[in-house]
Parts: sequence; C-alpha cells; structure tokens
Amino acid sequence: MRMYDLIMKKRNGGTLTEEEIGYMVSEYTADRIPDYQMSAMMMAIYFQGMSEAETVALTMAMAHSGDMMDLHEITGVKVDKHSTGGVGDKTSIALTPMVAACGVKIAKMSGRGLGHTGGTIDKLESFEGFSTGITAEHFQRQVNEIGISIMGQTLDIAPADKKLYALRDVTATVDNMSLIASSIMSKKLASGADAIVLDVKTGSGAFMKEEADAFALAREMVTIGNKAGRKTIAVVSDMDQPLGCAVGNALEVQEAIATLKGEGPADFTELCMTLGTYMLIAGGRAKEEQEARTMLAKVIADGSAVSKLEQFVQAQGGNPAAVLDPSLLPKAAIVEDIQSPDSGYVEKIDCEEIGICSLILGGGRETKDSEIDLAVGLILHKKVGDRVEAGQALATIHANDRQKLMTAKERFLKAYHITTEEVTKKPLIKGLVTE
Ligand code: URA
Repeated sequence: MRMYDLIMKKRNGGTLTEEEIGYMVSEYTADRIPDYQMSAMMMAIYFQGMSEAETVALTMAMAHSGDMMDLHEITGVKVDKHSTGGVGDKTSIALTPMVAACGVKIAKMSGRGLGHTGGTIDKLESFEGFSTGITAEHFQRQVNEIGISIMGQTLDIAPADKKLYALRDVTATVDNMSLIASSIMSKKLASGADAIVLDVKTGSGAFMKEEADAFALAREMVTIGNKAGRKTIAVVSDMDQPLGCAVGNALEVQEAIATLKGEGPADFTELCMTLGTYMLIAGGRAKEEQEARTMLAKVIADGSAVSKLEQFVQAQGGNPAAVLDPSLLPKAAIVEDIQSPDSGYVEKIDCEEIGICSLILGGGRETKDSEIDLAVGLILHKKVGDRVEAGQALATIHANDRQKLMTAKERFLKAYHITTEEVTKKPLIKGLVTE
C-alpha cells in the first residue's frame, strides 16, 4: 500500500477502506508517513468528506494506536462524560460527584486546558495537594471504593490523534466534522468507559458556532460511540454566553461546590441535572428522566453529593476542608467590581472575550508550558436578558496584577452589549441526540 495512492483516491472523491485507514494511521503514528503526505490527506478529507464507515474506521484506528484502558477490574457500568468545551465550564467538578452519589461509577480521564481557560485538572488543583497523576491501579481501586476518580492522561491514549491534531492545527484542517468527531471519540473509546454522555456546545464561545453544526457533530459522535458498542448520548447546550457566573479556576470550583449544596446558578444547575439524568439512565440506575432527576435532587438536598466531592478530593491527596470552607481555596489579592456604563438589558456577551479576560488575568495558558494562576478570574453578576442600571456591577474581577486587571477590564466592557429593548432569554438546553 502506498500513501500516495490513498491521497489520490481521497482527492478524487473515493472512499477509503478500513484496511487503508488502518495502514495510514499506524504508519503515521510510527513516523513512517511524513507530515506533508498526511497534511495532503487531511486537506483531501476536508474537501471530500468521509462516509460514516470511514469515520468509524478512523476513530477505531486512532483509539487502538496506543493504550486501551482496561477498566474490567471496576465493577458495574462505568460512565464517562465529555464536553466540547467552553467558558466557565466547570461541569465535571459538580456533575461527577452528583452522579457518583447516585451510584454510577465515574472513571474519568481529563486534560489540562490550553488557551482561554484551565481544564478540569487545573481546576481540581485548586484543592491544595490534589493530584491527578495517580497510577492506573490507584484509579481503579478508588473507583471501586468510593465510586469516583479523575486521572490525568498519563497513559499513551490515542497517540495517533495527538499527532494528527497537532498537524491539523497548523494546516487549517481542524474544523471538519468527521475529523473532530473521530478525534474526540478515539480518546473516549480508549479511555474505556461503557457509556458516554457528550455535552456538545454551540454559540460564540464554542467550536460549533451554529446550532445545526453542533447537532451534526453530536449525531456523528453518537453514531461512532454506538457502533463501537458504547451507549452514547449527546446533549447540545448553549455556549453563547459563559456557563454559570464564575470564570477562572478556583472561582469555578467554588461555584461547583455551591451547586452541589443546591446554591448554584440556575443555568449551571440545569446543565448538571440534564447531563446527570442521562448519565444515570446510561449507567442503568434510572429508567426514565423524572426518576433520574428525583435521584439527583435528593443527593443535593441530603448532602451526599457534597460529601462525595469531599471523599473524592481526600482520596486524591487534596484538602477536603476546602469543600466545606471554600475560603481555603486560592484567593486573589485584588477584588474589584466592573460597573456598567449604561442602563438597559444585557443583549449579548461575547463569550470567547470573557474567556480571554480570564486568560489575560493569568487564569489560562498562552502556551502548553505556561503556569496558571488559579485564584484569578471573574464573577458575572449579569447575564443575557438581565436588567442593569448604570453604575451597577456587571461583574467582579479577581486579579493579582493591576496592569493585567486594567487590560482585562477594558476588554470585558467591550464584550458586554447593553440595549434599551427588553431581551428574551434563550434556553440553555438545545436538544438531545440518541440513537
Ligand atoms: N477537540 C478534540 O479533541 N479534537 C478535535 O478535533 C477538536 C476538538
């Protein structure tokens, strides 16, 4: 088999076989196909697209290119959750203890963030001492003992995707639906869970700016997951404004804790309830939505969800006292309100810009080796549709550097659009994609 022939076949609109895709992925991972040939293939796929069978074959080949996590030592159904990412997305930190408190096993691998916000691992490190650099044995034992563990990607998970994603990033071939779906799903399949609940974001702060594209991506991923024998459900949710009110690592952890105590913002709580519902159904703990919602509401009301977070933090070396007393989380030196220049209604918040404000303050990574300042970020007091008076606080900014605060504040004010007309709030949950 020659890579040249495969590139020509795809360039001319042909369909690659499973064997051809397997060859291309394994040879590329082993450095026997050069980047320039794979770049040409990615561009050919970008323009010609891939059939469902090709997308499934690419996903499986990438999933099997490295370690396949074997979770059979963990009893019961293991459910994983994945979000396509966005601003203020602290969902895993509240959702996973909620679901674990209802009896579904959470064995999850997470990454660090690059760009405008930290990832789940960065956020969890707001608990002093918390480590995700645990062994696979520790991970499995912990899930069996307390029902929840989140580990960093220490294993060699889908190395083909890692190499391909870096190549796509510099060859303008990231935003192809089949390539995104296979990239995300290859990592999820290699991580070993029996069922996967996907949170596919849409809006100005998401990969998929258009709702129709988010649904198309959700359908592709659900098809791949189900074809690979994993029960897969996707929720399409809004990312046209930040999720909840907190943006920034420790601030988001604080909001996640409040949510587990039943005191979280309505939109974020609703997202956790919705995703949790499908995790309980996928994990076989609930038969239908109302039953699942009742179970989730109960673990919040009786304190078992927040206790599960405490147990989880302690099991991974973190200080569990910070769950009951969030003032023990990292704190910024400067805390200041940002006042609204006008009276009216919040019409639009440029979501990505709010993420960039947090990045400017030091809450995200400019490069993969940058240090994150866990304490900094923003608490939004006004969201789309809210009434605001001139001089009233739109947000509170948490900073450790006055110059960075000034730059972030200037950018923040440009991201908020205030109008005199009343604005209708849009629903957070856009829909559901199952088989
Ligand atoms: N996230 C991924 O993991 N892969 C993509 O291709 C896009 C987003």
